[in-house]
Amino acid sequence: MGKTIRFGVSLNSDLLEQFDSLCEERSYPNRSEAIRDLIRSVLVEKEQQEGDRDIAGVLSLVYDHHFSDLAQRLVEIQHDEHDVILTTMHVHLDHHNCLEVLILKGGGEAIRRLSDKLISTKGVKHGKLTLTTTGQGLA
Ligand code: NI
Repeated sequence: MGKTIRFGVSLNSDLLEQFDSLCEERSYPNRSEAIRDLIRSVLVEKEQQEGDRDIAGVLSLVYDHHFSDLAQRLVEIQHDEHDVILTTMHVHLDHHNCLEVLILKGGGEAIRRLSDKLISTKGVKHGKLTLTTTGQGLA
């Protein structure tokens, strides 16, 4: 872990005012913590785009398990790509609707491919992939 270094930043006063408002809205204790998060956010985005390191993701799917053989098809797709799935959770929302959450870790391309396959399966009402980082190499 590197040491902490202080550095100065020159900013237009209007931009600084907007930044301070943002820090307050988002409950940052100080500007430094907000700037650290902004830098990490850009680094994580870069990591996700470059695709040469493992990333993590959370995929949520909402579907009606009565729809045709949908539940079985979703299981088969997951078995085909089991190496990027760390765990899954299935919640029965009501008599028809299921919420399934998959925690994924692996190459960005494999994670997106699996997510696209599951989300585009006929009968899935809503699917959303949220990409994040494994945290490795991020100070
Ligand atoms: Ni269910």
